[in-house]
Amino acid sequence: MGRGGDAVVETPRGLVLMPGALPGELVELVRTKSKRGAARGRLIRVLESVAGRREPPCADASRCGGCPLMIASPQLQREIKQSFLADACRGLPGADETELEWVDSPVTLGYRRRARLAWHRDTVGYRQLHSKRITPVGECIVLVQPLRQAWDELLAHLGSSLRGAGQIQLQLTDSTRVLVDLHAEGDQPPELFAACETLCTLPLIAGVTLRTRGEGQAASWGETRVAIRTGATGVLEGPGGVFSQANDGVNERLIEAVVRLAEPDGLRVLELHCGIGNFTVGLAARASSLVAVERDPLAVEACQRNLKRLGRKARVTVGDANHPPKGRYDVVVLDPPRQGAKALFEAAAVWPGPRRVVYVSCDTATLARDLRLATAKGYHIDRLIGFDMFPQTAHLESLVRLVRD
Ligand SMILES: C[S@@+](CC[C@H](N)C(=O)[O-])C[C@H]1O[C@@H](n2cnc3c(N)ncnc32)[C@H](O)[C@@H]1O
Repeated sequence: MGRGGDAVVETPRGLVLMPGALPGELVELVRTKSKRGAARGRLIRVLESVAGRREPPCADASRCGGCPLMIASPQLQREIKQSFLADACRGLPGADETELEWVDSPVTLGYRRRARLAWHRDTVGYRQLHSKRITPVGECIVLVQPLRQAWDELLAHLGSSLRGAGQIQLQLTDSTRVLVDLHAEGDQPPELFAACETLCTLPLIAGVTLRTRGEGQAASWGETRVAIRTGATGVLEGPGGVFSQANDGVNERLIEAVVRLAEPDGLRVLELHCGIGNFTVGLAARASSLVAVERDPLAVEACQRNLKRLGRKARVTVGDANHPPKGRYDVVVLDPPRQGAKALFEAAAVWPGPRRVVYVSCDTATLARDLRLATAKGYHIDRLIGFDMFPQTAHLESLVRLVRD
């Protein structure tokens, strides 16, 4: 199974990447166009299936492509994702002696608190994997219930007024209502502005923003801030569109684990990629000092406000995590986007410094690369936890603790 959710199929004419097959199966496929040098295929039929195959609970699963592991039982999904994390660490110092721990999602459907849709003319839906094409999905069952309802309302109220192409982000706020954020690639008719205003009057919709290319300022209706529950840490607030973890139940466990593994009590902590303060609030409660770095100025402002409201102290700065503020730190916590943190691990000024590094990753390929860099600097792995943040997909959240030899 490839990390993106495509099966890597051995054929007499070489390896072919293809959705719809599971490890160990015998399939018939047709080769399609190669993309970026990789041969690709389309499933014709499964000739011999594995025990973990199941009928996907979503009728659109094979057309949409957003949930490539929905054809696998929860047990098989877990085995596949654990193998991604184990592969990322294989052969590295400490990996053999470290047990891989795993945190399941409390729910495997109805868990996603944000969704990104696209429209092109009158088609609204998800963008297909590896393609710009849009699949109009009837109902997306991995979304939390308010988002599913919002999707219906969106189609009913805005569907006929959308022009050209654009993106729509749906984001849960305060656990019952939804923020709708539209980014249009071109000008939009007055009917769409009127429809946004009507949409915003529905009890389910907290607020709507509409940004058109060329217009600097977004038009907005209602409440455009999000409030995110993070369990024991409290509620975090931030502007709509700012990063938030996708699965509230798993995020609570992630926050708890990050703070526990950082063991920040009385220590000088550097937190990189802090967002609006998902881990910052918990770390600040226990560290002797905390410097937090984030590239997005709106997130930094929100993080500072969250800390103040929750009675915590930290120095939160706008900056590039790959070039952190100079200083002496005992612990570094980082949570980079998919691209990872290659430049950070290559920065001579930072290493070897902190005695502990807690690395949160959403991409096991870049994690593997960065762990190789970190272990070459004298660190070894001593804790390894996988979190099923995105059930039905091939993605997972990983938490690796590195300590200095
Ligand atoms: C995966 S999110 C994690 C945010 C936060 N830790 C959380 O759990 O909500 C990654 C964050 O890193 C920020 N980011 C991306 N590249 C960055 C860079 N080079 N320097 C600082 N922050 C960066 C993004 O704006 C985003 O907020």
